[in-house]
Amino acid sequence: MKKTVYFIAGDGIGPEVFKAGRPVIDAAVAKAYNGEHSLVWEELLAGEKAYKETGNYLPQETLDTLQSAELAFKGPLATPIAGGFRSLNVTLRQTLDLFACIRPIRYFEGIESPVKRPDLVDMIVFRENTEDVYAGIEYASGTDEAKRLLEFLRDELGANVDVSAGVGVKPITEKGSKRLVRKAIEHAVSQGKPNVTLVHKGNIMKYTEGAFRNWGYEVAADEFADSVVTEADAKGETSKVIIKDRIADAMFQEVLMRPQEYSVIATTNLNGDYISDALAAQVGGLGLAPGVNMNQTLAFFEPTHGTAPTIAGMDKANPGSIILSGAMMLEHIGLNDAASLIHAAMDKAISGKKVTIDLVNQMEGATAVGCTEFGEILASYL
Ligand code: NAI
Repeated sequence: MKKTVYFIAGDGIGPEVFKAGRPVIDAAVAKAYNGEHSLVWEELLAGEKAYKETGNYLPQETLDTLQSAELAFKGPLATPIAGGFRSLNVTLRQTLDLFACIRPIRYFEGIESPVKRPDLVDMIVFRENTEDVYAGIEYASGTDEAKRLLEFLRDELGANVDVSAGVGVKPITEKGSKRLVRKAIEHAVSQGKPNVTLVHKGNIMKYTEGAFRNWGYEVAADEFADSVVTEADAKGETSKVIIKDRIADAMFQEVLMRPQEYSVIATTNLNGDYISDALAAQVGGLGLAPGVNMNQTLAFFEPTHGTAPTIAGMDKANPGSIILSGAMMLEHIGLNDAASLIHAAMDKAISGKKVTIDLVNQMEGATAVGCTEFGEILASYL
């Protein structure tokens, strides 16, 4: 199998983490499959490089290629400060309708963590990426729009609301909820995960968060009846994926106290934003956090960090997040053996205690190496 991966190197530390990270991803594939499978990397322009070469931060050609692509990878993109330019990341997500933001969180032995048993955390968060209070329907207190909307709510719908309020709208659709939960269950089934938890605040927001929960159970019953069972029906041990739900506030307590009971999390946009950072903190921070944004056809992998402008060009950045995003991509296309090699290499590199400066600060007795050298160390452990 030869797979084309379109990539945007990105701004700031993007090009250097790519340069150090890409050979590790390729080497893992070569080692695992002896040339039977390979990746073909094709560069697309976006960000500062695109601006220099074309006068446009996000050329139409890049968007057109991504519209019909299956796999893509991006480094971080700076939001240009001048001219009130919109975030390129938000533009990409919206234009390509990348509705699922997926972040796996697991512990690497040796990294300092604020909890006693970070090793029990092995979860993957599926966060809805397009709806909820992120839809951008929000009006400032005292504006004509806010007043008109609030007066309508008060006068026409009988809502008990102060018309001087600032106001935001929280749309949650059946389509948006179901396609997100479908992805989460598909992942659990294909990767042999034990359970999927629908995280919501449906006890308070019945017709948005509660509806998300109900639509989630509906997808499970209608489309995955052979492979899943609800927690209520499971009655003890089962070989099927268990579908359960938890109210968001309780879930924050659960992931701290009983992380081993949770595997795949499917949740709405705002809950997902909070819980992915909270879980990352449980295992020692965002430094080694990979991610992907997906629509129905495209899986667009990216590290979760930004352009780190203060260390850009200094060979100090950690290429770990990009390399782990690469491992996610390999799992996505079924090259699980190559992905496992990367995970094992990362474990060994961290226990070897020669790591980039960001990790040195989180580990006892570690020494700092540069971005390039850390990539080489990882490759040597494959
Ligand atoms: P940032 O993630 O770039 O930096 C936060 C801190 O983490 C800094 O101290 C930085 O030096 C450090 N850091 C980040 N990645 C690192 C790595 N791989 N190795 C070692 N240290 C690392 O976040 P910040 O400063 O808020 O944003 C900087 C720029 O990046 C902004 O223009 C922002 O818009 C953009 N950004 C882009 C993202 C994306 O493309 N997905 C995500 C987040 C920010």
